[in-house]
Amino acid sequence: MHPRRLLIGGNWKMNGDLAGGVELAEAVVAAFDPLNESVDAVLFPPFPYLQAIGRVLGHSGIRLGAQDCSSEANGAFTGDVSAEMLVDLGVSQVIIGHSERRHIHKESDALTCEKLHMALESGLQVMLCVGETGEERTAGQATAVVQRQLRGALNGLKADKLASITVAYEPVWAIGTGKSATPKDAAEAHDAIRADLEHLYDRPSSAAVRILYGGSVNAANAPSLFAHLEIEGALVGGASLKSADFASILGSAATAFKGRRG
Ligand code: 13P
Repeated sequence: MHPRRLLIGGNWKMNGDLAGGVELAEAVVAAFDPLNESVDAVLFPPFPYLQAIGRVLGHSGIRLGAQDCSSEANGAFTGDVSAEMLVDLGVSQVIIGHSERRHIHKESDALTCEKLHMALESGLQVMLCVGETGEERTAGQATAVVQRQLRGALNGLKADKLASITVAYEPVWAIGTGKSATPKDAAEAHDAIRADLEHLYDRPSSAAVRILYGGSVNAANAPSLFAHLEIEGALVGGASLKSADFASILGSAATAFKGRRG
């Protein structure tokens, strides 16, 4: 199989302000420019800043993403944002099933699945997040939990839609803790996800899915994570808020891709 470019996502979560976001995006665009043949990138700013950040990204090649969307098409859902509205703003990818939605907002596998279908029907690409908590890992349930989340979210999805899906393995205990999974543990989890996709579908359709790692990825640990072929990019939280750190992660991904190509 030809190696493909790694994908680096910057999930800004609920951080920053408009001016700071624009400045950050401008710096990321500048850092990305010489790398755009060797790495894919997407930024996920907060909803209110999407349009402004979209303007900064322009034709840079960096895609505009959103952090969530509603499972409903439209109507009386105060505070929610529909997938169509995101498309209207130039968004091309949406995060679905982030652990902060699953745990803080108690979103179920079933709701995650509805959102995923709504996003795809609206023409968005999906960044599907899965990952176990620390307790689940200690109890030896990590693989089973990730499998349940994956199967729950993909329920009813046809193989020909897999090309619009990216999976981000984000162990909850590694998010925002400074304690990344070891590259070996992450690679093993990615292997299990890949095997499950192949079991649910078939090898060629599953090959369309990139599997990223997320959880305390930073400039220092990115190269060792990307040394594993199973890790096809990163979904970055805290370090995506600092342009120099995010630029360094983009650079590591570009270098890893060149190495994989040989
Ligand atoms: P951190 O990189 O801050 O650990 O966040 C990871 C994450 O949740 C990305 O979606």
